[in-house]
Amino acid sequence: MASFSALALDLTDHEQAGKRLYREGLSSSDVQLQARVGASDMAVPASVLPCASCHGSDGRGRAEGGVRPPSLDWRRLALGQGTREANGRTYPAYTDSSLARAIQQGVDPAGNRLDPAMPRFELTLADQRNLTAYLKRLAQERDPGVEEGVLRLGTLLPASGPLADAGHVIRAVLQDGVAQLNQQGGIHGRRLELVVLDPGADPASAERALQRLLGQERVFALVSPLAPMLDQRLTTLLGAQNVPLIGSTPRSGGSAQIFDPLPGLPEQLLSLAGHARTALGLAPGELRVVYAGNEQAALAEQVRERLLQQGWATPAIQVFDGQAVDGPGIIFLGRAQAFAELAAALQAAGRQPYLFAASSQVAGAVARLPEQWSRRLFLAYPYVPGDWTEQGLATLAGLQQRQGLDPRQASLQVSTLCALRLLSEALKQIGRDASREQLITALEGLHDVATGLTPALGFGPGRRQGMAGAHVVAVDLPGPHFTAVTPYRPVPVTP
Ligand code: HEC
Repeated sequence: MASFSALALDLTDHEQAGKRLYREGLSSSDVQLQARVGASDMAVPASVLPCASCHGSDGRGRAEGGVRPPSLDWRRLALGQGTREANGRTYPAYTDSSLARAIQQGVDPAGNRLDPAMPRFELTLADQRNLTAYLKRLAQERDPGVEEGVLRLGTLLPASGPLADAGHVIRAVLQDGVAQLNQQGGIHGRRLELVVLDPGADPASAERALQRLLGQERVFALVSPLAPMLDQRLTTLLGAQNVPLIGSTPRSGGSAQIFDPLPGLPEQLLSLAGHARTALGLAPGELRVVYAGNEQAALAEQVRERLLQQGWATPAIQVFDGQAVDGPGIIFLGRAQAFAELAAALQAAGRQPYLFAASSQVAGAVARLPEQWSRRLFLAYPYVPGDWTEQGLATLAGLQQRQGLDPRQASLQVSTLCALRLLSEALKQIGRDASREQLITALEGLHDVATGLTPALGFGPGRRQGMAGAHVVAVDLPGPHFTAVTPYRPVPVTP
């Protein structure tokens, strides 16, 4: 990790040590630094209250709350003549020694007491010197990928193997979108640049590719990568450098940095459960969660837990292994082939439960199902034709035509378009002084973004999926014919 940060900036050793103190509250020596907090001067380790936790790792301060941590931009604090102003105090320019007094004793250059919300830090001489050196650089220090005329984005897309086809589609959509944005002048005067690397076939090669994106290639944020083998590692590696990613859902739980425009599988399946209860009248004990394939087990368990929270009495999850599962309603997670086998096994046993699944997983098996499943099968779709506006359709058709993309792969095209749309929206909002932290805050603040292809999308504090649920669609056979029976309504979030 250290080698990354060294690559990402040109700081001297002193400045680097100052940065560690600023961000993590750690001394360059072995001492544990203390901060004195509040009017009572209570001592806490500085590592619990590093400067960055209040002033932001970009030093821009915070815009909300009562007494606000001001911006620590050195130009504002110390350069030039004239008085400055913060939280009603006025004072002349800071010098190195008055800055040390503010940090250690809580007085500004005019002798005003700082509000006790600003802790007093007990620093060694060396630590104070390092910290001051870093504060002089802080405002110039930009996150990687933000340059004078260029903003660099990155992604990981396999060029061979089973995901190559999808990788090709995503790449075409991203490159097309970036070209369109650049034609309109880029974002805040910066041209967007897209770096595409191949994650290869295994977790190790994928991790190397990611490290290269973040290190050598210096990308600012990631968009729509396709590297399922990274999963847990992706979350950890992005978290360590606060790298925003938009357009993916980690299978293994959430991450503060990862945003997905479309709903995850659990939310989609919960919409189906809602329909099972309100429209089909299934009782709390009548829904089973069945999965095929080990990689689905964790998701299946998540779904069951969420069902229990919503008042279902769903028994333990079951793995499908060719048997005819019992129960009046079955929520299925797994691939199309296994789904077709489940339907056949049930049929052979003379059973005809309601089946619920995500269209993204099982759509491939639906056309071949026998007629007896007509209106017994319900699929979750993040969006349906009713969500498509004329403009949305024109955008999609234009893209398909320019890039020679197959309309049958529209769902991948739509999800990638949405990711790029939300990303560029947030980038526009944060202005030219873009930092990763600001991008994450801006993404979090997006509400009701109309895409013309999906229901309105948006995130929120702690909310990382653009939609919390899906449309419920009934399947008529033979055909198949699809009828939207319950429109998308956000599934209530239980903490
Ligand atoms: C718990 C939150 C918190 C932490 C941690 C914190 N500060 Fe502050 N800081 C504040 C607040 C709030 C103010 C505004 C006080 C006021 O205006 O009276 C402030 C004010 C300041 C000022 C005065 C700026 C001015 O314009 O007069 C400086 C300099 C400063 N902080 C530096 C630091 C440094 C360096 C660290 C880490 C060693 C740090 N702060 C840690 C909350 C914090």
